[in-house]
Amino acid sequence: MTASSHPVVDLAGVSKSYGDLTALRSADLVVHRGELLAVVGPSGSGKSTMLNIMGTLDRPTAGKVRIAGHDIDELRDRDLSALRAATIGFVFQQFHLARGVPALDSVADGLLYSGRGRAERRELAERALRRVGLGRRLYHEPHQLSGGEKQRVAIARAVLGDPPLLLADEPTGALDSRSGAVVMELLHELHEAGTTVVVITHDRDIAASLPREVRLKDGRIEYDSALGDAPAGELVAAEGGLR
Ligand SMILES: Nc1ncnc2c1ncn2[C@@H]1O[C@H](COP(=O)(O)OP(=O)(O)OP(=O)(O)O)[C@@H](O)[C@H]1O
Ligand SMILES: [Mg+2]
Repeated sequence: MTASSHPVVDLAGVSKSYGDLTALRSADLVVHRGELLAVVGPSGSGKSTMLNIMGTLDRPTAGKVRIAGHDIDELRDRDLSALRAATIGFVFQQFHLARGVPALDSVADGLLYSGRGRAERRELAERALRRVGLGRRLYHEPHQLSGGEKQRVAIARAVLGDPPLLLADEPTGALDSRSGAVVMELLHELHEAGTTVVVITHDRDIAASLPREVRLKDGRIEYDSALGDAPAGELVAAEGGLR
């Protein structure tokens, strides 16, 4: 089997507990290359927990996690970091741009450990910024950028090394609807260019506009549009309320 025939993400019976709190319960989720999917659910339902596990930022308490065909149980932290760096880009609600650093450097710094020289890093960063429509903001610092522009810088940084998987945790959560729409359009473009994109969102319209929707409730996947029409809510109700 070639690497590209594996699912990008394969979670099997994945749970995550913090003490006696179970944030994620027996999640089964397969994401194939080229998908664009929304993860939705109430606050505290386990969305970020699941995304962080898909992103290999966290290891599960139970279950199997395979990323691009690699069983993460079998990887030491160092190899896991290498897999993450080569495979996954992250975008968060708060853009995580360092104060006082121009956009070009913020993005180029994403390649600090890539073995490329400074000039090449900056050239690639400039290309990525142009790709997200910020060719005229290369030297702007975060305080000189709008929220939507800051998020586009963060996306440029995330996709700089062309990772096959982009994980976005509420990328439009801090933006007005117009800037949010621009960011979503950008995620659609990246998807069309071949990137697999997983987006956590609170926005029902955004979720409904994506090809696949996964709903979490009380740490459980209660609906996955890829699996057809599961009876939403019944599973959780049957257990008499989990928390
Ligand atoms: N590091 C942690 N230690 C203890 N509990 C945690 C930790 N991280 C998350 N939790 C708990 O796990 C549950 C799920 O959290 P998670 O952040 O995944 O929710 P979420 O769906 O992303 O919510 P939101 O929409 O508010 O971001 C919550 O009850 C949260 O308090
Ligand atoms: Mg969250």
